[in-house]
Amino acid sequence: MAQVQFAVRRIAVILNFMEEPKIAAKKSIPVEVEEGKKYFFCSCGSSQNQPFCDGAHSGTEFNPIAFTAEKSGIAYFCQCKRSGKVPYCDGTHNSL
Ligand code: FES
Repeated sequence: MAQVQFAVRRIAVILNFMEEPKIAAKKSIPVEVEEGKKYFFCSCGSSQNQPFCDGAHSGTEFNPIAFTAEKSGIAYFCQCKRSGKVPYCDGTHNSL
């Protein structure tokens, strides 16, 4: 679901209906997550608590993307905010 939301947003950006998110970093960030726990991924790139939302999107057209971790362990999250596998990194930052 998160990937569908993000894909729709990317299309809106390409069509100039929405602004580009800020690139928080051009590298993934490893974070320990817990199976079944709900998290809120920052889609705007302005959070100081990457890769998660800290409310910095307030007043913008961005919203956090909710997702539930499928398994416990280290996950590598997107910080460039352009991954095709949001909230996870797919290496897109290498082409930016
Ligand atoms: S701070 Fe980026 S989506 Fe909330």
